[in-house]
Amino acid sequence: MLSKTMEQALNEQINAEFYSSYMYLSMSTWFNSIGLPGAAKWMLTQTQEELFHGMKIFRQVNERGGRVTLKAISQPPVVWKSTLHVFQEALAHEQKVTGLINDLVNLALEEKDHASNIFLQWFVSEQVEEEANVGAVLDKLKLIGKDTTALFTLDAELGQRIFTPPPVQVN
Ligand code: FEO
Repeated sequence: MLSKTMEQALNEQINAEFYSSYMYLSMSTWFNSIGLPGAAKWMLTQTQEELFHGMKIFRQVNERGGRVTLKAISQPPVVWKSTLHVFQEALAHEQKVTGLINDLVNLALEEKDHASNIFLQWFVSEQVEEEANVGAVLDKLKLIGKDTTALFTLDAELGQRIFTPPPVQVN
């Protein structure tokens, strides 16, 4: 059984993951609007990943006898200065989410909630990957600079990304 404190904290994380999904969807449509369909696809894939994250916590709360309370999702930004700016914002966002996950782990440890601690370890590892994925694109964008041809090449590469749900589903 989840404590009320942990239940509330996990509910807030569900909202944060759904916000992430919404934010990446906004980034995706912005890329479509400026003619970079590959980057739009990359962001759409990220949208699916974030929905998966949110639903993974959703299922966990239910499985532990808690109550999911869905709250309003904040409006994400709708416009960015450049492709580089989008990925800079994405990295800053992922760093913030890593902090939220770490806070959840700290709470689980404080409460001696071993089940939540084990559950959250997946997210700890996932955040390392999330930051690395965004960081890798950001590094390439910095190298590309104002080279439009190189940007189109990168866009084609980004368009190859697909969402593959992890093989182990909670329920
Ligand atoms: Fe669900 Fe991008 O962290």
